[in-house]
This record gives sequence, structure tokens and C-alpha cells, in this order.
Amino acid sequence: MERKILIIVSFALLALVGFVIARNDLTVGSLQPGSVLLYQQTYNRTGVAGQMQSQDVFYTNPLRNITRIRALDLNANGTGGFASIVSGGVGFRNVTIRLQSSAIGRGFTFFVDIYGN
Ligand SMILES: *[C@@H]1O[C@H](CO)[C@@H](O)[C@H](O)[C@H]1NC(C)=O
Ligand SMILES: *[C@@H]1O[C@H](CO)[C@@H](O)[C@H](O)[C@H]1NC(C)=O
Ligand SMILES: *[C@@H]1O[C@H](CO)[C@@H](O)[C@H](O)[C@H]1NC(C)=O
Ligand SMILES: *[C@@H]1O[C@H](CO)[C@@H](O)[C@H](O)[C@H]1NC(C)=O
Repeated sequence: MERKILIIVSFALLALVGFVIARNDLTVGSLQPGSVLLYQQTYNRTGVAGQMQSQDVFYTNPLRNITRIRALDLNANGTGGFASIVSGGVGFRNVTIRLQSSAIGRGFTFFVDIYGN
């Protein structure tokens, strides 16, 4: 049982990593019947010479379980950044999403939205 779960989680992580590298977009979970928009915001950081840009977005909701999280890279040419979930997420009522530039000196622009039931 535990091994099976481990294998499923490993595949999910591989799929996620492949997706993130290919598109720089992060999408976790899916819309369920009754899912409503809980939060949306655009995060924009300009590049600063010699620095990486990083920002943690924390969202929490006292009532609803998160069903889908997206961080869409609006710099669609792949120079934008990387998004990852560092705590909470789908199935939780909170999530911390880390937004990072792809290289020193670069900024990022992400559109983040969170749905839940
Ligand atoms: C991000 O901010 C920069 C500098 O303020 C601006 O030039 C750019 O248009 C902004 N991009 C978005 C997508 O808001
Ligand atoms: C959230 O998930 C918990 C645990 O699965 C469940 O008991 C609860 O009913 C869910 N809440 C909503 C609003 O769906
Ligand atoms: C990538 O896209 C951003 C935003 O659309 C733009 O400011 C930047 O110049 C583009 N970079 C390249 C290398 O095309
Ligand atoms: C996020 O949710 C988890 C599980 O419900 C909880 O244990 C944790 O304390 C929460 N974290 C924050 C910062 O609210």
C-alpha cells in the first residue's frame, strides 16, 4: 500500500517537474463541481542586476478546501521564472507558492489563481 502511494507520488512529481520546465506554468489539481474562485493576483518583479527575485505567496481560507492552484508565467517566452508549492496545497485550506526568477538579473510576472470547494 505504502509503496503504491510512493510510486504514484513519484510519477506525479515527475509529471509536475516536466511540466514546469517545459512551460514555466504551474497547475496543480483540477476544478471540481462547485469549485469557486478564492483568490487571484498578478505578481510582477522587475529584474535587478546581480540578484535573483523570489517571493512567497501565502493564502489561507478558513472554510474551503483548495482544489486547483495555478501560477501562469506571463513572460511566455520562458525567460520569466519558476513557481512551486512549498507548503499546503490541493486538499488543504492553505498554500504557500514560491515565485522565483529563472536567472540572476531577471524578474518575473505570474498570474496566480486558487479555486476551492
Ligand atoms: C511589470 O512591471 C514592469 C515595471 O514596472 C512593467 O514595465 C511591466 O509592464 C509590468 N508587467 C506586467 C505584466 O504587469
Ligand atoms: C474539506 O476536506 C475535509 C477533509 O477531507 C472534509 O471533511 C470537509 O468536509 C471538506 N470541506 C469542504 C467545504 O468541502
Ligand atoms: C519575454 O517576454 C517579456 C514579457 O512579455 C518581454 O518583456 C521580454 O522582452 C521577452 N524576452 C525575450 C527574450 O523575448
Ligand atoms: C495549513 O494547514 C495545515 C493543515 O490543515 C495546518 O496544519 C497548518 O497549520 C496550516 N498552516 C498555516 C500557516 O496556517
